[in-house]
Amino acid sequence: MNRREFLLQSSAVALRPSITGGQGLRDQGKPYGTAASSFQLRDGDFAAALAREAAILVPEYEMKRGVIEPSPGRYDFSGVDKLLAFARAHAMQLRGHPLVWHKRNPDWLTEVGAESQLMGYISQVMSRYSGQFHSWDVVNEAIDVTAPGNLRQTIWLKRFGRDYIDIAFEAARAADPEAMLVYNDWGCELGAPDNDRFRAATLDFLEGARARGVPIDALGLQGHLGLSGPQVDQAKLAIFLDRVKAMGFKILITEHDVDDDGGAADPATRDRQVADASRRFLDVAAPHAVAVLTWGLSDRYLDPPSWRQKLMGWSPRRLPLDASLARKPLWTVLSKELARH
Ligand code: XIL
Repeated sequence: MNRREFLLQSSAVALRPSITGGQGLRDQGKPYGTAASSFQLRDGDFAAALAREAAILVPEYEMKRGVIEPSPGRYDFSGVDKLLAFARAHAMQLRGHPLVWHKRNPDWLTEVGAESQLMGYISQVMSRYSGQFHSWDVVNEAIDVTAPGNLRQTIWLKRFGRDYIDIAFEAARAADPEAMLVYNDWGCELGAPDNDRFRAATLDFLEGARARGVPIDALGLQGHLGLSGPQVDQAKLAIFLDRVKAMGFKILITEHDVDDDGGAADPATRDRQVADASRRFLDVAAPHAVAVLTWGLSDRYLDPPSWRQKLMGWSPRRLPLDASLARKPLWTVLSKELARH
């Protein structure tokens, strides 16, 4: 064993105990991360797989406002703090997600009264973790090409008008001046006519934000794909990403997965279909991205199969590791894409 191998091995032992199986996705080059939840950390094998594979974690659920602020002004950071402690112990970073969204808000938040219900929340949450996070999804899924002005009708839009996005990013910059601030959305990846409109609306939005000096650093592409329905249009996606980059925005892939519903019954064939769909996306998007995250690491914690899937005798297989934590063809695609750039 040479010195480098020795150091690699001893740091792997120190940071990631009881792990075998060689290098993980975190060691390939470009940073890889995944959504996770604090309850999963009690599953020893799973926690070891997280530590082996991921350099970034994002709370899948525990940073939704409904969890963080269950009643007005009462904050519960316990889930995020557990993830943060785990992340620190394994030399990982956390992403913040999402500060402003139209879903998973607390039941009491049906309309916005005081202005501080937007800015106050952002500064409470971000200043608690100031300087410690990889990046923050400040506003999530605000664009809706079926709505007037292409902006989703939300309690925020109703209260502040279209300025709410600017206000949110400004509050975020003030709370953590060094943080990477991300606008995150899902409509830009595919080739359907709706997605053409979505890409155009996103470019308009980003251009306007630049012109107004809104502190947005990056665009987050969620990257939720599926085996049925519209597929990635590589040419359109490439043109879109070039334009986003030309405006000076960074790009992140924030929630990638491939819904395998509608795929082959045979699991091995379906795994290849999932991997191929991912490759078509990552071939174009990964070179532009500063990090690639999937929406979960293993099929172990996916929602249970639907009745239709149960009757067909199969369970969902949309993530890099299967339910027993074995690496799937999607893992191999990710490892190559992360290593390539
Ligand atoms: C989802 C979680 O996966 C679910 O567990 C939760 O019930 C709802 O939120 N886009 C997003 C994520 O930005 O926050 C969503 O996560 C998935 C879609």
